[in-house]
Amino acid sequence: MTRALIPGSFDPVTFGHLDVIERTARLFDEVLVAVVENPQKSTLFTLDERTEMLAEVTGHLSNLKVDEFEGLLVDFALDRGVNAIVKGLRAVSDFEYELQMAQLNYRLSGIETLFMPTTPGHSFLSSSLVREVARFGGDVSSMVPPPVADRLTVRFRA
Ligand code: PNS
Repeated sequence: MTRALIPGSFDPVTFGHLDVIERTARLFDEVLVAVVENPQKSTLFTLDERTEMLAEVTGHLSNLKVDEFEGLLVDFALDRGVNAIVKGLRAVSDFEYELQMAQLNYRLSGIETLFMPTTPGHSFLSSSLVREVARFGGDVSSMVPPPVADRLTVRFRA
């Protein structure tokens, strides 16, 4: 039984995240998507909202669970018995920081990190850009699943 962990803020989940999640779900028996609660970082959506959106847009994946965590990622990963942490890579610019985290997490826990290249059509996407476009009333329907676009509309409604 192989279990992958995909961690992130998911504020909110985008088609880029979903692409990595779906492709990972085809490679592992089970995938755990973990939404991080970081009290030092302010988010547009609460932890519960981010988790709900993720559960909604991944409901079609039978081998996937959505969970939440606070604290060190490796503590959560060890507790859940995961075989690998999976991170999406959009561009070379992501690599330096992700490599550092992967090496740190390996030093702390012995758990490997695998990088999944984002499908090119999604490589420009980020949650922060989506929030920015939505904040100013732009169309985010090609960037996030419909339930997420709806929540953004409601959140930024004047
Ligand atoms: O979607 P994000 O914000 O890029 O995800 C970053 C995340 C949640 C994967 C990273 O911040 C993380 O692992 N946070 C948990 C705290 C931790 O373990 N930090 C040390 C490893 S760098």
